[in-house]
Amino acid sequence: MLTEKYRPNNPFQLVGNEEVRVRFIKWLKDWKKGSKPALLIGPPGIGKTTLVYSSANFLNYKVIELNASDIRTKGRLESILKPSLIYFNLFGERVLAFLDEVDGIYSKQDYGGMEFLLEAVKMTQIPLVFAANIEDEKIKKLIEVCEVFRMKKPPPRLIEIYLKNILKREKVEVKEETIREIVKKSKGDVRNALNNLQLAISGYGDLLAPLESNIPLEEGINRFFQAKEAYEAYEILSNIKAEPREKIRALYNTLIGSEISEDLKVKALRVISYADEILNRILKTQEWRQLKYLDRFLAFGLKKILKDVKITYKEDTIPWNLKLRIWNDSKILKDLANYLSKQLHTSKKEFMIFYYPLLPFIFKDLKDLKRLGLNESMIKVLKKEK
Ligand SMILES: Nc1ncnc2c1ncn2[C@@H]1O[C@H](COP(=O)(O)OP(=O)(O)OP(=O)(O)O)[C@@H](O)[C@H]1O
Ligand SMILES: [Mg+2]
Repeated sequence: MLTEKYRPNNPFQLVGNEEVRVRFIKWLKDWKKGSKPALLIGPPGIGKTTLVYSSANFLNYKVIELNASDIRTKGRLESILKPSLIYFNLFGERVLAFLDEVDGIYSKQDYGGMEFLLEAVKMTQIPLVFAANIEDEKIKKLIEVCEVFRMKKPPPRLIEIYLKNILKREKVEVKEETIREIVKKSKGDVRNALNNLQLAISGYGDLLAPLESNIPLEEGINRFFQAKEAYEAYEILSNIKAEPREKIRALYNTLIGSEISEDLKVKALRVISYADEILNRILKTQEWRQLKYLDRFLAFGLKKILKDVKITYKEDTIPWNLKLRIWNDSKILKDLANYLSKQLHTSKKEFMIFYYPLLPFIFKDLKDLKRLGLNESMIKVLKKEK
């Protein structure tokens, strides 16, 4: 995808909002305990998320992104977010927490969500960044306690230059008239402009409407499973406001969390795993033209298997503390697997599946593992398995 290939990893490569970007980078650079959190406000597809990630990258911060399921209710929020905000910096890495779409969390069912965000603001030990699309009543209290960064749609002229620059780097040509139409249709949404440039390059035909009119992920997934016909499901899927990878992940999480029979689940997950492979191949070969088959494959594949079953959208079900564990320990575990699998003349995968779980049983005193050449941090990780 052009949006992925040309996602700036340096905050100075974005278009538009120059002053805001500089101020945001300065905010992060000067951040110390007690500083205000940042709140980015602006319409979809203009680079809020990209600004956060690229600035973090620029200033050597890792980003922990919290999603809506992490901040569903005050109770969950407290148990999940509180320890993370307080203990993160103990791991010696510079980490910032990013909470996207905060304007979406304040419905009746999420009562207390905003209240907790305000508490989080008070107790955080790491930089916190919020992002929202619309500045309204819901986030008024947050605005009061944050340093606010209002981002505007980049002007058409800049978007046009940006698109032309990409065409040059891609070494392809698109008619001047089409470029102008893409810029106009995007209404300042850079993501939309890039997606439509992609379509124009691959000769896909009609341009997509800007994302504002597209279906939000959760609603789209629900409608996808409710659809009676595969073709209807395909139309819905291809209109969801999300990158292909996000859609696949949402379908996966929803199916994993659903109550359909194991047999059906296996069949459906097989379709998803094929789709994931197709997507990997598309990303590798850059055969963007194939993307349209991806949604079709998913819709027709899944609808054939899942008839008359009730499935509703589920989010990522990995608990936050497990995510934290994966985050902190995965590199060490990889090193450990790499090292011991060689000693045991087996593959890394086989080692992790068959041998790794046995280590704490074989070595009653994990200190003995030192003799095998494991270092302190590897042994520390292993101790958590006990
Ligand atoms: N200002 C920009 N300059 C260059 N590329 C951009 C810009 N804004 C968006 N893009 C492109 O669009 C993609 C999506 O942008 P991003 O996710 O940052 O938007 P967003 O403002 O966070 O939108 P949303 O409100 O939907 O979360 C990026 O991967 C990037 O390729
Ligand atoms: Mg975003």
